[in-house]
Amino acid sequence: MDRRDFIKACSTVAIASMLDKGLIGNALASQPGAVKEYEKALLVKEDGSPLSVEDVKPHTNYLFFYPFVSTPCFLLNLGKSVEPVEVELTDGSKYKWPGGVGPDGSIVAYSAICPHQWSYPTKDHTFISYYSPDQPSKTTKKAGVIQCCAHLSVFDPATGGKVLDGPAEVPMTAILLKYEEGKLYAVGTLGVEQFRDFFDMYKKELRKQYGSSRKAKKKSTKCEVIEVSKYAKETIKC
Ligand code: FES
Repeated sequence: MDRRDFIKACSTVAIASMLDKGLIGNALASQPGAVKEYEKALLVKEDGSPLSVEDVKPHTNYLFFYPFVSTPCFLLNLGKSVEPVEVELTDGSKYKWPGGVGPDGSIVAYSAICPHQWSYPTKDHTFISYYSPDQPSKTTKKAGVIQCCAHLSVFDPATGGKVLDGPAEVPMTAILLKYEEGKLYAVGTLGVEQFRDFFDMYKKELRKQYGSSRKAKKKSTKCEVIEVSKYAKETIKC
C-alpha cells in the first residue's frame, strides 16, 4: 500500500469485516485501513525448524523476507516489554501499533525497506540497520534505533517505527507478528507499505536475483530468519 492508498483506505471503514479477527486480533481488525493481511508464515531457523523466542537474542539484528520472498524485514528482541502506541502520520491519520509479542512482549518486526527512498539490505551491503543500546550511532548519537545511512533517517522500533530524525516522512512499515504455542508467525503489515515503490525501483536487480519479477513477488509462506551480519557482507554504520 502506498501513501495515497493508505489515506484512501483509512476512510474505508466498511471493509472491517473482511479482516480475519482470528488471525490479526480484534484491535487490529478494527482499523482496516492500516492493516493488511498476508499469508500466515512461520518463522524458522536456518535448519528449517521453528524459531523459538529464545532463539531471538536481545538487541541482535535479524532478517527475514515477508510478505514477499524478496522484501526484507527486521526482527528484533528489544529486551523488555514494548507497549502499544498510537502512530500518527503527517496528514493527521492515525493507527495503533500493537507493541511487542512473545512471553515478554519484547519481539517486534518491521519491513527493512527504508520509507524514505527505499534503501534495503542486499547480500552485498546494508545502509539500514539496528543500533543496539551499547552501540550508538556515531553521527546521530542515538541508540536502540533503526538508522538508514543513505540519508540519515532514524526510526524507533519501540514505538511502531516512528520517525525520530532525518528526511523520512512516514514510519517504517510494521510487520504483524503472532506468537502461538511457542512459535512465531508473520501475518500481515501495519502502516504505509513501500512495496510498490520498491518493486518499481529495483525491478532490474530483483529480476537478476530471483529470475523474474513474478518470482520476486511470490508470497512468503515460511520465513527463514538469519542475522543481518550473516546475510549482508557489509553493514554500513554511520
Ligand atoms: S533511503 Fe533511507 S534515509 Fe534515504
